[in-house]
Amino acid sequence: LERVTIPVLQQWKDKGRRVVMTTAYDAVAARIADPIVDIILVGDSVGNVCLGFDNTLPVSVAMMNHHLEAVARTRPHALLVADMPFLSFHVGSEDTIRNAGGFLQRGADAVKLEGGAKRIEMVRALVDCEIPVMGHLGLTPQSVNVMGGFKVQGRTTDTALRLLDDAHCLQEAGCFALVLEGIPAELAARATECLTIPTIGIGAGPDCSGQVLVFHDVLGLTEGHRPKFVRAYANGFQLFQEALSRWAADIHKGAFPGSEECYRLPDQLRHAVAN
Ligand code: KIV
Ligand code: NA
Repeated sequence: LERVTIPVLQQWKDKGRRVVMTTAYDAVAARIADPIVDIILVGDSVGNVCLGFDNTLPVSVAMMNHHLEAVARTRPHALLVADMPFLSFHVGSEDTIRNAGGFLQRGADAVKLEGGAKRIEMVRALVDCEIPVMGHLGLTPQSVNVMGGFKVQGRTTDTALRLLDDAHCLQEAGCFALVLEGIPAELAARATECLTIPTIGIGAGPDCSGQVLVFHDVLGLTEGHRPKFVRAYANGFQLFQEALSRWAADIHKGAFPGSEECYRLPDQLRHAVAN
């Protein structure tokens, strides 16, 4: 498979070829997803999806490094994007450059960060250091405390216009693509039409340049409340649980392991052990 690069993504937008992106937090998921998808995101959603946190705020650069390294070792053909976690791009541009540069040194091709006009200084600092940046607007999970929960954004004239303005600012600052999350489909369509860079939607309707869903959501591995933009293409949770329970039942019956699943002594030693 030919490696996906940033110029290739731009060509795809120009000719209307849709982009497929999912998350991976470890080598197993990366190997499953890589032949299928164009972009692999080591998302800070690792915090709630895999690490048991309620939201993404506790995720640190060290945690992201650990998961990114596991994914990068699989050398995916997909563009590998690392999410900048909360507080890793807020304090100052030196700190931001070191955190993002560390991701590139660990094998990421680009970084993603949440926010619009307020984060432009940091976006510019990264782009100036040849670190490609993907923007992320709308329902930005790191703003959960300000939003008062995970709520659809951009539903008023004010917030819709601000989102379009933020999108232009990010493009202007040099972002190579934007994730649009949890916004009305019409607003995402408008942003996609106005911008030259690709948009990748999640809960943002069908008219983005591409779509992203969390790996565990597509495969039905996540329990509990499922937002309406998630379409699970497998009931992975049940599938895996049923497989495990058949194995457990075989153990209880004495049917696992079978003779073909055992190591054997050589014939001449079998006697010695028996006696
Ligand atoms: O962390 C994540 O998984 C994300 C995607 C859902 C865009 O930011
Ligand atoms: Na994220």
